Amino acid sequence: MLLKLLTLADFRNWGKLEWQPAPGLNVITGANAEGKTNLLEAIFFLASGKSFRTHRDADLARFGSTSFAVGARIERATGELSLVLRWDRSRGKTLTLDRTEHPRLADLFGQVTAVCFSPEDLSLIKGPPEVRRHALNLLLLQISRPYYYHLREYNRILAQRNAHLKKLPPTASSELALSVWDEELARHGAELTIRRRAAVAELARWADERHRELSGGYELGISYNPSIPLTDPPTLEGAQTAFLQKLDRNRREELRRGITLSGPQRDEINFTIGGRDLRSYGSQGEQRTAALAWKLAELEFIRSHTGEMPLLLLDDVFSELDPRRQACLMREARRGSQTFLTSAEEIKLTIFPAAASWHVAQGELKPL
Ligand SMILES: Nc1ncnc2c1ncn2[C@@H]1O[C@H](COP(=O)(O)OP(=O)(O)OP(=O)(O)O)[C@@H](O)[C@H]1O
Ligand SMILES: [Mg+2]
Repeated sequence: MLLKLLTLADFRNWGKLEWQPAPGLNVITGANAEGKTNLLEAIFFLASGKSFRTHRDADLARFGSTSFAVGARIERATGELSLVLRWDRSRGKTLTLDRTEHPRLADLFGQVTAVCFSPEDLSLIKGPPEVRRHALNLLLLQISRPYYYHLREYNRILAQRNAHLKKLPPTASSELALSVWDEELARHGAELTIRRRAAVAELARWADERHRELSGGYELGISYNPSIPLTDPPTLEGAQTAFLQKLDRNRREELRRGITLSGPQRDEINFTIGGRDLRSYGSQGEQRTAALAWKLAELEFIRSHTGEMPLLLLDDVFSELDPRRQACLMREARRGSQTFLTSAEEIKLTIFPAAASWHVAQGELKPL
């Protein structure tokens, strides 16, 4: 996949931008706070409909502005496509594909795929479980619209159920009232669980392979620890039944505490090296290496599911890696079709020379 043209209007600190990046490696340098990360954030926004830095779309509009737009021309194996994702305060997000407005945002997913690696991704290992669930969601919705659908429906029903849990007194009639959500919650929850389990198993294999290259032979273990117990072999029906049983068992306790106690919103993903939990025992460097291995696994995951390499966005990560890890990362980048690498300093790339170098200053992007 190639990003042939990127256009921005009032996105973060960018006023107007029309940019034609090169195929291969694009290196973007510039002083701090000039807008390098914002540029990658815009590209990622086209892939996932979300920012990797904020949950609020309004944050992405340039200060003082009530709307923004990110547009692109994409070249894929199936042909070229132009898309524009616009946001304004009254309408929210609207999607235009090849000049036709699409009422459903879901039509965005799968059009552009991207993997982003930034220093904040250390929180993938160190942070709370929701960081890992969020990363998995952002990955899976890029390759699977059904996943997006089940996630949206699950979250909608969960929010309704939780709102009622907070209001209802802990009585038998409340227990009955709650059960109206069970079927649907369990159906979508089981879908998410089964899909996440399969994805983590695949990602774990690739991440371990990459991790051994990055670290000189150390095994990385990644396991999915679902809130809903799975049968062996895992089945949708099995997960649904197990979820319903849990809901049944927890109902009284849930009414007392005012929150749904089981389901994909409670899933965890565990990282280990040599069997030891990386979150509690890993050094900063080990955690960073594991996060990088996960990201490289995401590349393979997207490639294997779509048949095309995603865009690779590397935000300010190069200088923090040692030469071995830098070399490994660049070998991976080279297998891809297009990489965007930002840095505040000049960087020396011996393995994979840049196809184009760019400089960001004062709201403009210029070739070096
Ligand atoms: N909604 C917004 N409107 C205008 N400016 C914004 C908005 N959001 C963030 N900014 C500003 O954009 C500037 C550039 O941010 P960005 O994170 O892209 O910098 P950067 O070039 O990656 O810097 P660094 O090298 O420090 O990582 C920051 O000064 C930030 O305050
Ligand atoms: Mg930055």
